[in-house]
Amino acid sequence: MKNKIILAFISVILLACNGQQVQTLKSPNGKIEVKFGSRNSQPYYAVSKNGVEVVSPSALGFLLSGNDQFCCNFVIISAKERTFDETWQQVWGEEIDVRNHYNELSVKLQEKAGKKRILDIVFRAFDDGIGFRYVFPEQENLKSFEIADELTEFNFLCDYDVWSQPLRDNDYETLFHKRKLSEIADTVNTPITVELPNGEYMLIHEAALVDYAAMNLHRRGAINNAHTDSTALKTDLTAWQNGVKVYANAPFSTPWRFIVLADNLNELTNSRIMLNLNEPCKIEDTSWIKPTKYIGIWWGIHMQYQTWSMGAKHGATTANMEKYIDFAAENGFDGVLAEGWNAGWDSNRVVFGERYKFAECYPDFEIEKISKYADKKGVKVIGHHETGGATINYENQLDSAFAFANKYGISSIKTGYVHHLLDYKERHSSQYGIRHYRKVVETAAKYHIMIDCHEPAMPTGWQRTFPNLMSGEGVRGQEYDAWSADGGNPPEHTTILPFTRNLAGPIDFTPGTFNFNNPTSNARVQTTTAKQLALYVVIYSPLVMASDMIENYKNRPEFEFIKIVPVDWQKTLILDGKIGDFVVTARKDRNSENWYLGAITDENERDIKIDFSFLDKDKKYIAKIFKDGVKADYKTNPYPVEIVEKEIDSTNILDFHLARSGGVAIELRIKN
Ligand code: NOJ
Repeated sequence: MKNKIILAFISVILLACNGQQVQTLKSPNGKIEVKFGSRNSQPYYAVSKNGVEVVSPSALGFLLSGNDQFCCNFVIISAKERTFDETWQQVWGEEIDVRNHYNELSVKLQEKAGKKRILDIVFRAFDDGIGFRYVFPEQENLKSFEIADELTEFNFLCDYDVWSQPLRDNDYETLFHKRKLSEIADTVNTPITVELPNGEYMLIHEAALVDYAAMNLHRRGAINNAHTDSTALKTDLTAWQNGVKVYANAPFSTPWRFIVLADNLNELTNSRIMLNLNEPCKIEDTSWIKPTKYIGIWWGIHMQYQTWSMGAKHGATTANMEKYIDFAAENGFDGVLAEGWNAGWDSNRVVFGERYKFAECYPDFEIEKISKYADKKGVKVIGHHETGGATINYENQLDSAFAFANKYGISSIKTGYVHHLLDYKERHSSQYGIRHYRKVVETAAKYHIMIDCHEPAMPTGWQRTFPNLMSGEGVRGQEYDAWSADGGNPPEHTTILPFTRNLAGPIDFTPGTFNFNNPTSNARVQTTTAKQLALYVVIYSPLVMASDMIENYKNRPEFEFIKIVPVDWQKTLILDGKIGDFVVTARKDRNSENWYLGAITDENERDIKIDFSFLDKDKKYIAKIFKDGVKADYKTNPYPVEIVEKEIDSTNILDFHLARSGGVAIELRIKN
């Protein structure tokens, strides 16, 4: 790991300005400035970029239980600055080297009277945004406490366009919509993506959400019907059932709140502020953590051809697994997921999970035999732990479940929490849920198990600290195309995700459906096949599924793209795009000099130009192009894919026609 760390502590002289105390902190390149101050004794911050205010003065602080205001009556008693610069390497990711370069300002506040309690606020200014967190130091007058409300605000001068999704109790499986800030009438979860009128972007989210409640936002005053400020967003933490937001003991730090300020979509996607605000990797030997491409007993269950539970249509049988393992071995997949392998399923439904057993197979799933077979073929069995939301039941079995996985060579597990509440009482994104998810990831690390968490809390960059957290759901994934009453994911959905949900972390979206007939529902994949291929580049995850039943890949030459596309990258570029309309993404393979490109469009057909000047100047490439075939159309004719090969280099600019909800996927292989 290349590490260059400069630490410089400077005591900052407090500026007295009309009785107000104001501190400023600039990013290393001087473009971004955070202003911190206290007005009427309440702390606030504001942010500007290139001298223009982008976040106007916004309140900070807390309301503790018992109507105890821990937000005003403060005086700044000290402030110090430091500079930090390091470059660290990701175990896997969208790029290898990550620079973590910031200036930091730590402000110590003390109540002027009464208990004279202390609160620190730490700001970091990066070249592409800012982060801040609250620190409650150890002190006599603040030991155990309850946060009744976090008062952090994000206030804006203008009524910007914002991409957001409404908060739900249990998951994030809704569509993102663009609205004016002033039109947000509900509570939304983060991340939210703000489009500025000058074509720039802002992302608001949190990092290192550990032992705290998830941050959601609503318009100030919109919830309690008090005065509503049309362009002011206020934090609304997910509460425990009893209304308390967070239980804490000092010393205690909150997660980081961060704002990315990007000139364009490429900068937005390549901001690493979230990862940089998480703790460095805690796993010493990461050699067992491997990006994975997998198939599995899965789509057939969602299409109702098979069942999770034992019976005539049982999916996860020894025979089916052996068939899938053969296919994986023949086609270069790393693993085979088995859903419905264990005791506890109730017909074809997920039930509340006290009955699930994680070390007990159904009799027709012979783990001994299957694991030996997989081993012989060089394929991994991927485990599945559907908990039905019963986290206590799961935690009681965690060690035995992971030991069972170790015994049978299972090194990745997909977890699931299908229930609107955890243990019938708490919400997934509450402090209760966060504690559980963290415990699973940490315990899994001890057993060298990679986790793919479905129905998670919104990711916040834990993968820097625990890179065995590979991927997750927390999205309206491709399964909606199997059974959703509204017919499936609308074509624009995947043109929005790269710039919203995917910025919070990898998505196990499960692309790769090739057969669009659905006898069991009106839903179906709302794309062309070429777009399905392009999604392997456009949506990022180091754990990627080819979701369809293997029968549907037979005699489909375009399946080759799914076989060859890598899952780990040394570089990522957004070449073009408009959120909600289209995206053109290029990624360079981590293990070779080859590039892969995916372009997708919404429900409109589109002509795009791809400028290949990002390629190495002195190299020639063989481009294998998988594009929408003649008359391809996602509604009437989704299947045609045309495959062409041509030699290209960095001087080429090529035209492509994308069908309605179509796409193009390209492998750019170095010509020897
Ligand atoms: C919902 C998950 O998203 C899906 O992938 C899984 O098959 C079911 N839950 C059952 O666990």
